[in-house]
Amino acid sequence: MKDETYYVIQKKDENFGLVNVPIYLSSTFRQIEPSKPIKYEYARTQNPTREIMEEVIARIENGNYGFLFSSGMSAIDTLLSILKPNDHILVDIDVYGGTYRILEKLYKKFSVDVEYVDFTNLELLKKSIKDNTKMLIVETISNPLLRTPNISEISKIKKNALLVVDNTFSTPYYFKPLDNGADVVIHSITKYLSGHSDIVMGAIIVNDKSLADEIKFYQNTKGGVPSPFDLFLLSRGLKTLHIRMERHTENAKRIVEFLRNNENVKEVIYPGYSGMVSFRIKKDVFEFTRKLKIITLGESLGGVESLLNVPYYMTHASIPENERIKRGITKDLIRLSVGIENVNDLIEDLKNALNF
Ligand SMILES: Cc1ncc(COP(=O)(O)O)c(C=O)c1O
Repeated sequence: MKDETYYVIQKKDENFGLVNVPIYLSSTFRQIEPSKPIKYEYARTQNPTREIMEEVIARIENGNYGFLFSSGMSAIDTLLSILKPNDHILVDIDVYGGTYRILEKLYKKFSVDVEYVDFTNLELLKKSIKDNTKMLIVETISNPLLRTPNISEISKIKKNALLVVDNTFSTPYYFKPLDNGADVVIHSITKYLSGHSDIVMGAIIVNDKSLADEIKFYQNTKGGVPSPFDLFLLSRGLKTLHIRMERHTENAKRIVEFLRNNENVKEVIYPGYSGMVSFRIKKDVFEFTRKLKIITLGESLGGVESLLNVPYYMTHASIPENERIKRGITKDLIRLSVGIENVNDLIEDLKNALNF
């Protein structure tokens, strides 16, 4: 079955023939006798709505096991829980600010040895992998500089480390890390997969059974699981993923062309697919954002509406200033999540905002 079909039909409901995922609101479940549940015991551990959607999320990434969480950060935290003190991990220099923050403020406190390297430099990465390197963490399209490290080449040099790929920006519609040598895929579902800026959710997808058992254990232990209402919204959003992604890309390509030809734009960064475009402008960033009428200034991305973010002041503000500058997250850098609106309206909006 093609992914596009799977996004739409999900799992066949054998009881009533439902075409949508049912929202089961039950935090607990009746047992036949002590310690003999009918199937489910307690909704943090598992519930029928989440079970359906975990199967869907695994399937669309071509994985064997999927796990859903109350946010992308909860998914990342749960995955990092498998580390032990003195384990060494390598992280790409250009990652989401929240990923950087949890490593710096929490996991370093637990004596995890965190090192940042440029994953587009394979020679350097190879040299940095030690015997006790347990994880390599990288994004398929990095945030916010939109670099695209080569996942299959990285998988060839990873030795015993788990290759963890955050596929939030690419989505499985464009790229499937598990098919390209990754061991773990993570997602902020908040973004493209749900697609309507109405839920916060995360996912982990793996192939290996013993790794899946470990993640399942920490998912239940930590308890950052999504609500059945939100899972319904994920199912609804996912059904249009393929159509949305094509329109995001189509619109983004037109905007890139416009920006590249605008005299007030210094640099345009675009990976060639998906709806994320970063650019640097010659004008005052505050004045530019004040003049936007259609595009919304706000954190997040991947929704049907266009969202614009200034990473230096917003999403990446938790990274110390000298680090931000060193990584190219300068005050003039703008990250645009191109929505699915009429692209001519978006171009007009940018043109007006840049013209002062
Ligand atoms: C690439 C990436 N990974 C993870 C996260 C964290 O996800 P959430 O905001 O759903 O907790 C984000 C959030 O912006 C992100 O952009």
